[in-house]
Amino acid sequence: MADLGKQRLGVNIDHVATVRNARGSAYPDPVRAAKLAEEAGADGITAHLREDRRHIRDADIDGLMLALTTPLNFEMAATEEMRAIALAHRPHAVCIVPEKREERTTEGGLDVAGDDNRLAEFIAPLREAGCRISLFIGHEETQIRAAARIGAEVVELHTGAYCDYHYEGDFAKRDAELAALQQGAALAHSLDLEVHAGHGLTYETVQPIAAMPEVRELNIGHFLMAESLFVGMVPAIREMRRLMDEART
Ligand code: PXP
Repeated sequence: MADLGKQRLGVNIDHVATVRNARGSAYPDPVRAAKLAEEAGADGITAHLREDRRHIRDADIDGLMLALTTPLNFEMAATEEMRAIALAHRPHAVCIVPEKREERTTEGGLDVAGDDNRLAEFIAPLREAGCRISLFIGHEETQIRAAARIGAEVVELHTGAYCDYHYEGDFAKRDAELAALQQGAALAHSLDLEVHAGHGLTYETVQPIAAMPEVRELNIGHFLMAESLFVGMVPAIREMRRLMDEART
């Protein structure tokens, strides 16, 4: 296979804040984790400031903006409150995600097609402030076309269902999902959208996604933090990096 070029790895450090908040203590510090992730080879850091502040807090975003040497991908719901915070910080990228209070994690993609007028207006000031706008969506053609139409620069394709089917052992559905993700990535690329992917990725599931030529960045959190408990954050991130590079060469 031809060398497809380096793919960026964004490390999501939300879980570090979850552990901190579980005890109401000052540690572990997500900013320290982010610095370590950078040392391990992360090309960027992702943090999701949820409306209920269940993990990352406002002060963490302040700290990340001051401390990081790689770009911050600021994940947020499309609310006025979050937009004001993003405009105050002007992170490199703003990734808009759907958010429901009762969910454990971001369960589905954003309905861009069904909310295109509002989202177009919502992202305009963020774009003017210089933030790259990324929309976290499924691989459906209508969503990808809507993302391009409203002026997003990036789409992040939701890999959660693909990973779930893999671990459920439903390989027919997994492979169908993979094919749909590949088609979606090609369509998005043809519409001049930069393609990212993420959610649920592990050592076992990362390579078919990393091998997709159009996918320029993966954002990974849960598995990396889980693996860090056993081997440490630096080896966990380095191994993910190695698997991504191997998939592309
Ligand atoms: N991308 C987006 C938009 C997400 O919301 C998340 C989860 O916060 C991830 C990637 C990372 O997913 P995971 O933690 O399952 O690796």
